[in-house]
Amino acid sequence: MTSSTAQAKHASIWLEEADTDKPKKYPRLDGEREVDVAIVGAGIAGLSCGYLLSQQGLSVAVLDMGKICNGVTGYTTGKVSSQHGLIYADLIDKHGLERAQNYAVANEAAITQIEALVAELKIDCGWERLPAFVYTLTDALMGKVEAEHNAARKVGLPVSLAPNPGLPYEVRAALRADNQAQFQPFDYCLGLARGISANGGELFEDTRALDVTAQKQGRRYEVKTDAGNVFADWVIICTQLPFRNQGGFFAKTIPVCSYAVALSGDGSMDLDGMYINVEEPTRSVRTFRHADKEYLVVAGEGHRTGEGDDMAQHYANLEQWALENFSATQADYRWWAQDYVSVDRVPFIGRESSGEHILVATGFGKWGMTNGTVAAMMLTDIIRGIPNAWAQVFDATRVNALKDAPQMMKGGAKLAKHYVGDVFRKFGAPSVETLELGSGALVKTAKGRRAVYKDEQGNIKAVSARCTHMGCLVSFNDAESTWDCSCHGSRFDVDGKVIHGPAIADLEAEDVS
Ligand code: FES
Repeated sequence: MTSSTAQAKHASIWLEEADTDKPKKYPRLDGEREVDVAIVGAGIAGLSCGYLLSQQGLSVAVLDMGKICNGVTGYTTGKVSSQHGLIYADLIDKHGLERAQNYAVANEAAITQIEALVAELKIDCGWERLPAFVYTLTDALMGKVEAEHNAARKVGLPVSLAPNPGLPYEVRAALRADNQAQFQPFDYCLGLARGISANGGELFEDTRALDVTAQKQGRRYEVKTDAGNVFADWVIICTQLPFRNQGGFFAKTIPVCSYAVALSGDGSMDLDGMYINVEEPTRSVRTFRHADKEYLVVAGEGHRTGEGDDMAQHYANLEQWALENFSATQADYRWWAQDYVSVDRVPFIGRESSGEHILVATGFGKWGMTNGTVAAMMLTDIIRGIPNAWAQVFDATRVNALKDAPQMMKGGAKLAKHYVGDVFRKFGAPSVETLELGSGALVKTAKGRRAVYKDEQGNIKAVSARCTHMGCLVSFNDAESTWDCSCHGSRFDVDGKVIHGPAIADLEAEDVS
């Protein structure tokens, strides 16, 4: 890793460069609440649901196991676009033209919805309309860009081929989508939270939902948390991957992670759009202006969560590429995000199972700003009994997604096999004594496998090596110093505390002395 990346602050630029110096702290739930709608997960989807529903006069309680907007929403690139890389040719192929059109219309409507909420709530979040480009550097992929052009036109998007998209390097083909947008996602979400409070809704942080149970009388459901219970007629679960196993979403989505860096220089980055390439490794680019400084935000290097060895190298790759191609001179921030990709590329939004009043939204496929807002619009309609034209394409109970699942499951099984093999390969090499400072590994001890971390001072922290969700082995993420589970994306800190579900129980502390 270059020294410059190592000097970049290990934090999301959105959380560090927020317009609000001190974001309001919301309390932990204390005791019981009774509301029309309980919303679990305070990212863009949950907060948008909370605002739209409270705006309609429904009482809401929004719960988050951490701080609001500190999950993936605070670690995204903040692109607000219906251009999701190359997707429409694939959607037409997999789902048919009508459903692909609905996907496009829904995501365009989400851009309009966000813009309306920015204006309505007077949110200072750097909202800016500008074009988005998807491009390729290679002759071999020019045909794919042209096919996407045809598909995007068929679904009605404002696209055109752009021989010169305005990048400082030559591309072979690029597709331009007009009237897309970018913003500061954390500032936007803080504005939504203020709107919920102004409408009489409540938000609770540091409140971990544990279960949802049906009630025989009173409100229809009880949401049990580690800080009290919420009784509600409707429950919305927006926890990236639903924390309950009902619906089997863990088997229909893949956890993927991405890396991001924000860099600055002496002046403007000279870009008039947002960009993403087609080939691997991904380079997703945008600018961000704050306090008279312009940053270049570059994200990419994605892979399945829990895969790979030298995760920290991904930051160096992004930084080196940015320094070589743009007028940036130093890396200021670096951060990491995880999202879930659905097996058929369309999120699951709607009822967890037919007839239930438990609603879910998951599988946003790294395009959560618009897909999360689509979810809020759709779930609000369901609760208000309003038919929604997009319901079929996003239907969370759809079975046609399952035809794509076997391939994914095969990949998962292969991964798990490889992964276990890899783990065993590593057994015997590291021991508690030979672990390097600031690193972690699965170690075979006299009492069994343990996930062992040694801090920079040589202190040892050991926890169970089995993920508490469904028992897969965790692996050490050296970019984030976390224990990650490649099966469904749960993540734990070095003390074993859950920082990302679907797991809800911590890894148990173990004694390896
Ligand atoms: Fe499902 Fe770990 S996240 S087993």
